[in-house]
Amino acid sequence: MHLDPITLNNGVTMPRLGFGVSGSRDTRAAVSEALAQGYRSIDTAAVYDNETAVGAALAGSGLPRADLFVTTKIWNVGRGRGGALRSARESLDRLGLDHVDLLLVHWPNDDLEPCLRTWEAMEQLLADGLTRAVGVSNFRPSHLRRLRGLGGTAPAVNQVELHPHHQQRELQQVHAALGIVTGAWSPLGRGAVLDEPVLRGIAERHGVTPAQVVLRWHLAQGTVAVPKSDSPERIAANRDLAGFALTGDELRAIAALDVPDGAGRIGPVPDRVDRIAA
Ligand SMILES: NC(=O)c1ccc[n+]([C@@H]2O[C@H](COP(=O)([O-])OP(=O)(O)OC[C@H]3O[C@@H](n4cnc5c(N)ncnc54)[C@H](OP(=O)(O)O)[C@@H]3O)[C@@H](O)[C@H]2O)c1
Repeated sequence: MHLDPITLNNGVTMPRLGFGVSGSRDTRAAVSEALAQGYRSIDTAAVYDNETAVGAALAGSGLPRADLFVTTKIWNVGRGRGGALRSARESLDRLGLDHVDLLLVHWPNDDLEPCLRTWEAMEQLLADGLTRAVGVSNFRPSHLRRLRGLGGTAPAVNQVELHPHHQQRELQQVHAALGIVTGAWSPLGRGAVLDEPVLRGIAERHGVTPAQVVLRWHLAQGTVAVPKSDSPERIAANRDLAGFALTGDELRAIAALDVPDGAGRIGPVPDRVDRIAA
């Protein structure tokens, strides 16, 4: 089934559809609603400043820990081995958890040495059971090749900006070659793609919303999407994807919405973000 979990390169399974909490107006309420609607994967980060609220919602849900998949990310101040170890432990304290399921390096760093030290810390956290899988975010092919060149544990996931206007095909090919799962942030293009006539037309044909079409497209191409919403109706609708499937023609029409040369990007260009997270 399209919502079956995806298996990461170390055998850990991850839900294909998660719930993002960056910029949530009331994170505890949004996560509580998402859990009540059936989401089991929550995507947070140290820098979102809402891990405590996420933890409160998780605890308040009464759901068994084993049923939940929690991702957090080491922010740019968590540089080097000591900084990354400290950052991860502080995140766990705020979340009220003894481990997360996926820990990501939030942004790449062009400086090899601190990158190596951060990745050593990630491996240590994995070995110590403080996370079940380790990965990266916003890494470009050059960053991934450099990280793999260090040897050691391969990242399980690279979470990047990905939506119909910014489809990241080259990067997805690199992921496939390296056994890395593609995570999609801003999977709805922060709402900006939803007015596309192509998406509206497909949505009308299936009696669904453009957002549901976009999320179905993510599932069809194997990307793990983490849409964010504060609205209970949208939280529910964004997970209600089982009743329709996109045709080959529809998938091709969405593929054609990609804006060339990365010009459809809405977030920062990874190479230009200040020397980060290593
Ligand atoms: N790794 C990274 O560097 C990185 C960067 C950015 C984001 N992320 C992660 O990705 C998650 C999602 O990204 P995002 O929040 O930037 O963008 P997004 O999920 O693509 O879009 C969220 C926006 O779309 C609206 N929306 C949600 N469902 C909708 C629907 N069914 N119809 C119409 N509008 C809808 C939301 O408004 P309402 O809330 O009003 O519904 C919100 O304004 C974040 O929360 C975060 O967890 C990671």
